[in-house]
Amino acid sequence: MRVLVVGSGGREHALCWKLKESPLVTALFCAPGNAGTRDVAFNVDIPVTNVGALALWAVENQIDLTVVGPEDPLSRGIANVFEEHGLRIVGPVKEAALLESSKSFAKEIMLKCGVSTPAGAVFTDHAAAKAYVLEHGAPIVVKADGLCAGKGVVVAETVDEAVAALDEFMLQERFGSSGATVVLEERIVGEEASVIVLVDGETILPLVVSQDYKRLKDNGLGPNTGGMGAISPTPVLGEKRLETLVGEIFGPVVAELRSRGIRYRGFLYAGVIVDREGVVRVLEFNCRLGDPETEVILMRLKSDLVEALDALSRGRLKSIELHWKTEAAACVVLASGGYPGEVDDGKMISGLFPPEPGLVVFHAGTVPEGELAKTKGGRVLTVSALGDTLNQAVRRAYEGVQRISFDGMQYRGDIGGGRW
Ligand code: GLY
Repeated sequence: MRVLVVGSGGREHALCWKLKESPLVTALFCAPGNAGTRDVAFNVDIPVTNVGALALWAVENQIDLTVVGPEDPLSRGIANVFEEHGLRIVGPVKEAALLESSKSFAKEIMLKCGVSTPAGAVFTDHAAAKAYVLEHGAPIVVKADGLCAGKGVVVAETVDEAVAALDEFMLQERFGSSGATVVLEERIVGEEASVIVLVDGETILPLVVSQDYKRLKDNGLGPNTGGMGAISPTPVLGEKRLETLVGEIFGPVVAELRSRGIRYRGFLYAGVIVDREGVVRVLEFNCRLGDPETEVILMRLKSDLVEALDALSRGRLKSIELHWKTEAAACVVLASGGYPGEVDDGKMISGLFPPEPGLVVFHAGTVPEGELAKTKGGRVLTVSALGDTLNQAVRRAYEGVQRISFDGMQYRGDIGGGRW
C-alpha cells in the first residue's frame, strides 16, 4: 500500500514511524515532512494548506491511503477534495471538522445531544456578550469561535479581563472573522485529559487515554503552548472509563452529525476536564490526533496502524481490535528559545540519535542540514520513551533529553510529575 501522511510536526513523524513498521506499506510519503520524517518516508514539498495540489500529487503517485495530521487542511476540506478524486483519506470532511474549527458549532452539538460540557452560551453581538459577562461574573472562559492557533481561549479571572477579551476578539478583530462569534462558558476547576477515538462514520474505537502539559513552564506556569509533553496512561482518567465515555460523548455526537447528513470519518479528540467529584466534561473537540499526545499513544500501540486506518477509510472499523503495550509512555517537547512567541530559526541541533528500543526522538520544527538538522519553528523535537512504570518512562525520556542540545533550547522539567 502506498501511504501519504500530511503534516510536518512531531505527530506526523510519529505517524510515519509507526506506519512504516507495517508490512502492508510499500511506499511512505510525508508532505511536507521535516528532517526526521526523511529517515522513514519520502518528503514531498507541498504545503499542507494546498489541498488541491496534494490531491493531484496523490492521484499522480497512486496513493492508496492518506492520513492527515493537522486541523488546517481538514478545515479547508482536504477530505472533501480527496474523496472527489476517489482517494481514500483518514480525516473528516470540512462539515464534520467544524467540531474543531467552530467552537459554537461544537457547543451547539454537545448541548443538543446532552454531552456533559461546561454551561455556556454563544454570542455574535458584542453588547449581548458583555451583558452576559456582567450578569454571570468571573471567573469565566472566553473562546473565539474559529481556529486561532491555540490563542483564542482566555480564562478570565475578572470581569475586566473578560470584557477586554471580548473587545479584542469582537471589536479589534485580533483573529479576524475567527473572533466575530464567541462562546462564553463557566470555568471548571479540575485536571485535563485527552480522549481520542477512531471513527469510521458509525463504529467508534478508542485509543488509550493521554494527558498533555499545555503551559510552557513547570507547575503549569507561563503561557499556553501547543503542548510541552505528554503521558499515557494518566492518573487523571482511568482507562476503565473509556467504554462509558464512548457511549456518553462520542456516540451521541457522531449520531447527531449523521442525522444532519454529515459523516464523521477520522480521528476525533475530546479535550476533557475531570473535576474533584470525578465528573467528566468536554471542553473542546479536535478533528485530529493531538500533538504531543500522538507521540506517547503510538509508542504504546502494538497493533498494525495501517490495517486499522485502512479499515477506517473503508467504513470497516468493526473488524478491528487494537492491542496495547502494558508499558507506560512519556514524552518531553524541546522548544526554541522565545516559544510560544517569536523564535529564531536555524540553530544547529546536536546529539540527535536514531530510535532505540523504547526511546525515540520525533522531529517537529526541524529542517535538514546535510546529514544533520537545524531548527525551524517553536516546537523542535519530542523525546518519547516507554517504561514498565510511568516513572521509568519519564526518567528514560529525560535521559534522552540530556543527550540533545541547541542554542536557546527550553523544556519542562516536570512532565509526569517528576523533577529532573
Ligand atoms: N496537545 C493539544 C492539541 O493537540 O491540540
